[in-house]
Amino acid sequence: MDAKIVLLPGDGIGPEIINQAERVIDTVATRFGHTLSCSRHLMGGIAIDETGSPLPEETIAACKAADAVLLGAVGGPKWDDPSARTRPEKGLLGIRKEMGLFANLRPIKAQSQLIDASPLKREIVEGVDIFFVRELTGGIYFGESGRKEIDGSEEAWNVMSYTTPEIERVVRIAAEAAKLRRGKVTSVDKANVLEVSRLWRQIAAKVMADEYPDLEYEVVLVDAMAMHLISRPRDFDVVVTGNLFGDILTDEGSMLPGSLGLLPSASLGSGGPGLYEPIHGSAPDIAGQGVANPLATILATAMMFRHSLGLDEEAQAIEAAVDAALDTGYRTPDIARGSSSIGTVEMADHVVTALEG
Ligand code: NAD
Ligand code: IPM
Ligand code: MN
Repeated sequence: MDAKIVLLPGDGIGPEIINQAERVIDTVATRFGHTLSCSRHLMGGIAIDETGSPLPEETIAACKAADAVLLGAVGGPKWDDPSARTRPEKGLLGIRKEMGLFANLRPIKAQSQLIDASPLKREIVEGVDIFFVRELTGGIYFGESGRKEIDGSEEAWNVMSYTTPEIERVVRIAAEAAKLRRGKVTSVDKANVLEVSRLWRQIAAKVMADEYPDLEYEVVLVDAMAMHLISRPRDFDVVVTGNLFGDILTDEGSMLPGSLGLLPSASLGSGGPGLYEPIHGSAPDIAGQGVANPLATILATAMMFRHSLGLDEEAQAIEAAVDAALDTGYRTPDIARGSSSIGTVEMADHVVTALEG
């Protein structure tokens, strides 16, 4: 196959991990006989520095013309001034919206080799396999926002809103995923307080009852979910929720496998290229040190082969190579639990070696 892949390295550890993902892409191309061409484009803080915009028009056009997009991470202290004219994160939200990527798939699976890397007890974490579906182009992230001065002090606001079609389409994605898994969907909301959550709950229940009567379905309030997620995580199969709740719960969920540096994600719309990225950020505290865990990005690359290129065997080969790399016992510092550790490139070396077969 011939495919065009856009790489958006971004900021902080973004370029370090994207370099390793590109080696994985090249290795897959050689092993399976594909022509995969990668081109790099600007997004985030680096794009602000070089063009004044976190999402240049040229980058949008390249992403839309690609078969898939692989992103590192954006943001960092250099661009964090609250009164700045623009922000790196605006570029990320912008590309998700431009490409219509309303469903963000975030699998959380505890790898057997890493059970002791989790800060949680083995008997809680063993066997965890949750598939989060986070709504990605609506909710409070994209509602009306503003600031105004009243009597010398200020007020600021962000509106959280969802429409029926926005809820329906993301719940359908979750239900379709559940059909191929253990057949259970959990919808997470704050319907005891928020009107927007009451609409979410009504529409989700209707979609599930009308279209997926054979699936098990439950609703959980988001505050309780934050607790259940670490007390009985094995009870969850597919979890569907809004943009903000999904953002927060999945960072929490990363402690089940043991590190943010392990969790990949896929952002999909209705047709068109998908966007693949680790769920973590630019990790300014370790950027430039060569110690970032590249596995989240490498697993996101596997998702890209599966969901955008239709190459499931290649995706499985990458996942098996990550497994084999972990079997060697080598660990980056985030999953080493204080024992000796290796760097970003060495970790990727183990994956590439296993992938070469
Ligand atoms: P973060 O995810 O960057 O880091 C949180 C913690 O996890 C840090 O201690 C970091 O060192 C660690 N960590 C993250 N990824 C790691 C990896 N691959 N290997 C080892 N350790 C890893 O979150 P933050 O520090 O709150 O945010 C930093 C910046 O990143 C902010 O500007 C934020 O807006 C941005 N951000 C971007 C994305 C994205 O581009 N998708 C996602 C989240 C945060
Ligand atoms: C993520 C990040 C982003 C989000 C930020 C950087 C805009 O935290 O991808 O999880 O909140 O969606
Ligand atoms: Mn996040």
